[in-house]
Amino acid sequence: MISFQKSAVLFFALALAVIFMLETASAGVIYRTIVKREGNLDFPAQKINGVWKGTVGGETTFYDIGLGACGTYNTNSEFVCAMPFEMFDPSPNGNPNLNPNCGKEVIVSRKVGGVVKSVRVICVDRCAGCKFGDIDLSPAAFNIIATPAEGRVLTNVTYTGEPPRAP
Ligand SMILES: *[C@@H]1O[C@H](CO)[C@@H](O)[C@H](O)[C@H]1NC(C)=O
Repeated sequence: MISFQKSAVLFFALALAVIFMLETASAGVIYRTIVKREGNLDFPAQKINGVWKGTVGGETTFYDIGLGACGTYNTNSEFVCAMPFEMFDPSPNGNPNLNPNCGKEVIVSRKVGGVVKSVRVICVDRCAGCKFGDIDLSPAAFNIIATPAEGRVLTNVTYTGEPPRAP
C-alpha cells in the first residue's frame, strides 16, 4: 500500500515534470516564430549567380531618392533601397543598370522592445557609403521601422533574391 506522503511526493514530481515539458515546448515555439519573422538566420546572405539571397545584420539609414544605379528614377515616397556597393558589385559589362540585384525584393526588419517592425522594399540603387550588411532606405520605408530623428538603426536585412510578389 502506497502511503499518503509518498503519493503526494509523486504527484508533485509529476506536476513539475509536466510544467517543465510545457515550458520547453512553448519556448521552442516562440524561438522558431521570432527567427521566422526576422528572416531565416539559418540562411546567411550569400550571392548565387550574382543575386543576393538570405539574411545579414547591419545598420539602416535613409537618403534622398532620385536616379539610381539601376537606371530608374524613384521618389522618397516609394518603398525602395540602395544596397551596399560590396554586395551590389560587380555589374555585367560594368553597367550597373544590368545588375541582377536591381528590382529584387529586400525585407528590412528591426526588433525594438520585443516587437519586430519590418518593411519590404525594392533594390533600385547602389550605396557607396554602406558597409556590408547595411542598407540605405527611402524616407517612406525608413519611417515604417524607425523615426527620422533616430537616423541610423540596427536591422536584419533579408534578400529574397526574387522580384516582389503582388500583394
Ligand atoms: C536580428 O536577428 C536576431 C536573430 O533572430 C535577433 O536576435 C536580433 O535581435 C535581430 N536584430 C535586430 C536589430 O532586429
